Amino acid sequence: MERAYTFPLVILLACCLTACIANNMNISTDESALLAFKSRISTDPSNILIKNWSASTPVCVWIGVTCGHRHQRVTALDISSRNLIGNIPSQLGNLSFLVSINLSSNYFYGSLPREMIQLRRLKIIDFGFNSFSGQIPSWFGFLQNLQLLNLRNNSFTGFIPPSLSNISMLQDLDLTLNPLQGKIPEEIGNLHN
Ligand SMILES: *[C@@H]1O[C@H](CO)[C@@H](O)[C@H](O)[C@H]1NC(C)=O
Ligand SMILES: *[C@@H]1O[C@H](CO)[C@@H](O)[C@H](O)[C@H]1NC(C)=O
Ligand SMILES: *[C@@H]1O[C@H](CO)[C@@H](O)[C@H](O)[C@H]1NC(C)=O
Ligand SMILES: *[C@@H]1O[C@H](CO)[C@@H](O)[C@H](O)[C@H]1NC(C)=O
Ligand SMILES: *[C@@H]1O[C@H](CO)[C@@H](O)[C@H](O)[C@H]1NC(C)=O
Ligand SMILES: *[C@@H]1O[C@H](CO)[C@@H](O)[C@H](O)[C@H]1NC(C)=O
Repeated sequence: MERAYTFPLVILLACCLTACIANNMNISTDESALLAFKSRISTDPSNILIKNWSASTPVCVWIGVTCGHRHQRVTALDISSRNLIGNIPSQLGNLSFLVSINLSSNYFYGSLPREMIQLRRLKIIDFGFNSFSGQIPSWFGFLQNLQLLNLRNNSFTGFIPPSLSNISMLQDLDLTLNPLQGKIPEEIGNLHN
């Protein structure tokens, strides 16, 4: 008798959880997030995004964009080495299925939007060789699945946040060539990978 009640309850909980995580977001959300990103790119020497990232073609065929088979949501973004100048809008935080982002070797500047904290599936962030500035965000500590964090050769200032030690999956951390100061936090020693 008990099991008969428990089973539908589990299904109900699972559905509820999926709905909560999905938060009514779909590929249209991803499209508007990427169009917002495109609008922040002021210089695109080869016109690659200007021409290709067009609402008239499906997001999943846009250059640099990869979608998952199961959910048809954006799982990877790679627009590295394209001499792009721009900054990152808060809408990037709506790419809720994003696993990997590679913006390396461009001229992206400004600070990283706090909304990125929502990207809990992220495993790879490669922002190396750009002009990002501000403090290294302490909210990186909430991206528990992160395996690679490359901030090499940017303009991040201030201290290394001890919260980086919360990213227990982290395997690769590159903060080289940033005008940082202070000690390396002792907590970093807790990162066993
Ligand atoms: C995405 O969701 C919105 C409402 O939340 C809906 O209007 C739209 O048709 C959906 N788009 C797709 C491609 O499923
Ligand atoms: C963008 O590029 C992809 C792959 O190269 C192509 O399939 C698609 O049609 C292009 N879209 C536009 C609007 O140029
Ligand atoms: C990001 O792209 C560059 C090439 O544009 C590549 O060298 C680098 O390995 C990529 N990063 C990751 C983590 O794959
Ligand atoms: C996406 O992100 C922006 C800013 O973070 C927010 O205003 C917007 O409502 C979000 N949701 C959708 C579905 O675009
Ligand atoms: C890091 O973990 C500690 C304890 O495990 C927690 O108190 C703190 O809120 C976490 N901070 C971040 C930024 O993840
Ligand atoms: C750092 O990046 C700049 C371009 O943003 C480049 O000119 C410089 O050579 C890079 N420095 C190193 C040591 O790689």
